[in-house]
Amino acid sequence: TTLSDAEYRPAIHFSPRIGFMNDPNGLVHDGTQWHLYYQFDPFAPYAGRVHWGHATSPDLYHWQDQPVAIDQTPAGEAFSGSAVMDAHNTSGLFPQGTGGLVALYTRAAPERQSQYLAWSTDSGLTFTEYAHNPVLDLQLSSFRDPQVFFHAPTQRWIMCVALSRDHQIAFFGSSNLLQWTELSRFGPSGITGVDYECPNLVEVPIEGGKTAWVLFVSINPGAPQGGSATQYFVGTFDGTRFVPESDTTEFVDFAKDFYALQFFTNVPSGNPVSIGWLNNWQYCQETPANSWRGVMSLPRRVSLEPDTTQRLKLIQQPEDLTPLRGTASDATPPSRMDAGSSWETPLPASAAHEVRMSVEIDAQPAGLPPGDKGRSGRFVLNFLNSNEETLSIGFDAFTAQLWLDRGKLKGFSHPFFTNSFSAALTPDQRKITLHIVLDKCSVEVFVNNGQQTGSALLFPATPLDRLRLSATGAGATLSHFELFPLKQTVRA
Ligand code: FRU
Repeated sequence: TTLSDAEYRPAIHFSPRIGFMNDPNGLVHDGTQWHLYYQFDPFAPYAGRVHWGHATSPDLYHWQDQPVAIDQTPAGEAFSGSAVMDAHNTSGLFPQGTGGLVALYTRAAPERQSQYLAWSTDSGLTFTEYAHNPVLDLQLSSFRDPQVFFHAPTQRWIMCVALSRDHQIAFFGSSNLLQWTELSRFGPSGITGVDYECPNLVEVPIEGGKTAWVLFVSINPGAPQGGSATQYFVGTFDGTRFVPESDTTEFVDFAKDFYALQFFTNVPSGNPVSIGWLNNWQYCQETPANSWRGVMSLPRRVSLEPDTTQRLKLIQQPEDLTPLRGTASDATPPSRMDAGSSWETPLPASAAHEVRMSVEIDAQPAGLPPGDKGRSGRFVLNFLNSNEETLSIGFDAFTAQLWLDRGKLKGFSHPFFTNSFSAALTPDQRKITLHIVLDKCSVEVFVNNGQQTGSALLFPATPLDRLRLSATGAGATLSHFELFPLKQTVRA
């Protein structure tokens, strides 16, 4: 037996009430609240018959379901896209002196993908399709996922769209969201996979006041871990052309379930906030819960920070979780853990859990045989249950790498649902901070204040209800430990 659909449903991550959900779409703050639109088949838990589903939130955690916002029509399915606030009515679609939300998305028919526009006069609840759609049509069958934002220095709207099979991102400019002129193209670059999808170009703050432009490109299939993944390029954007600062690429996540990343537009703080689809096209239509399928990631703030080689790397942190916290567990692990020791506590009774900790593994384990430099100094954090299931997250100090292993969970097996993932940390680093959110069928691990992030679906056959910490091969010192139950924010 495995858990029921209801028991797998996350408590603080958005998932659809019924049907199938993939990419986040139209992420926008309208001045009052946050909108999450999403790729949605309302009729079955499989990808297809794509509509734009919709939910709204005051804080990015409490989501309220809304009616479907954009339908499939005879012109095609409503594929991925974005939404912007046309506050000054540059489109001329709104009554004089007003403005509102405009959505730009791909209508996908079997032989044609073109860019459509729709606008809303009721704060994003319902949309009217523009009479002269498509607003952009290159007569192609693989041309999709428009991301639109306003570029203040050049005072125009910019659209990035994927020429998916050609592995290019095309950039267009417009003064009114209706007429678009091609500005430049980027690619093929990085890891191409079969298709480029869901491009997002965003200006991201660097700690210390500067900014750089980051172009996110999702690829599917063909990612290094298998299936789908989101990569990014750091560079400059002058309003016409994106120029990467190097010919390298990086991935947003070290695990396997983080795709189609999209950023909010019109964010009140001005800082970038993103959501990804916590899934992978390799197995998303076969996962156990099957009256609903699909989970969004936690909302994340991003910034850039130079690594030890001075290359700018993405930093990701979950939006503030403190308002969701219940009373902290008073179980306290010993601050000193000898090699071979472990400590265990039941998880607080709650749907979702948050762990924060810092640990340093001893530099030179005592009593080693000659020639052994302490290759086995590891610190392991396990979530487990009495059904002999374990989710394991561990730090290997000798190689400065982290693992995330979901292989000892019994609720789902699939040839592509691979077990374990790893992240390379700064060489010689023996200290690590972990920020972990476990929420029913998902885990997100933020390492060293967001320098690395791992997102994974998981399907235990029985709920994970204990936490165990172990030091193996070398002793370890814990300088910080907190365990919180998190309060449910999304309907059950
Ligand atoms: C990415 C994607 C997009 C497309 C949408 C269809 O996951 O394949 O390229 O617009 O999903 O649902």
